[in-house]
Amino acid sequence: MRKPIIAGNWKMFKTRDEALQFVYSVNMKVPPKEYVDSVVCAQAPILRDIVKRQGDNLRVGAQNMHYLDTGAYTGEVSAALLENIGVAYVIIGHSERRAYYNETDEAVNKKIHQAFRYGITPILCVGESLDTREAGETDAFVKAQVVADLKGLGSEQVKELVIAYEPIWAIGTGKTATPELANDAIKGIRSVVRELFDDETADTIRIQYGGSVKPANVDELLAQSDIDGALVGGASLDAESFLYLVNAAVKK
Ligand code: 13P
Repeated sequence: MRKPIIAGNWKMFKTRDEALQFVYSVNMKVPPKEYVDSVVCAQAPILRDIVKRQGDNLRVGAQNMHYLDTGAYTGEVSAALLENIGVAYVIIGHSERRAYYNETDEAVNKKIHQAFRYGITPILCVGESLDTREAGETDAFVKAQVVADLKGLGSEQVKELVIAYEPIWAIGTGKTATPELANDAIKGIRSVVRELFDDETADTIRIQYGGSVKPANVDELLAQSDIDGALVGGASLDAESFLYLVNAAVKK
């Protein structure tokens, strides 16, 4: 049995006041962490403030970090700092970072290794563009991402890792992948993990779906055999909506 994980990716939304208001209003209502991992990923400058106020069942994630320990990298955030302030998760390789900040699979792979060095759980994002899907190349594309991004990791690490399958055409567009399409793609990712590692690793790793997940579609997505949770943008910004999503995961 894999424990579901729902992570809100707030992207470049919410001021400190808005974020703390959210945390105060969900803290007592988030279901017990024995049933679901509930995470919010915020902008770097307010991570510490949220960590200090997170309730027992809420955890905080960053949206990116550098792969080196320290150095002259203006504007970057280190894993050491994230660990130091109590951040539990970090999103790595989101398609927006790959597209707008030239993040390569090589950098993504280094960041995952770095996150593990500091005991931070990476949420690795993979997923194809509309062109790739229409060309019938989704499986090969996503497989290549998974192979490159997981290079050099041990099976014990991969069991801890979370993968988010986020088809780019479904992000922020209101176009959700059908539950069957999302489940098929996630099964494909699990079989790549099986080939690269072993059965136990493939059956343990949690793979989320992301792309226009909201209260209206989360139940049917989570009802699928291989979808272990969701990485949610827009619908994670509102406290009531976030609570609906984490409670839906409890039923899985
Ligand atoms: P939306 O849920 O807003 O489509 O965003 C998905 C996403 O990119 C989460 O990382």
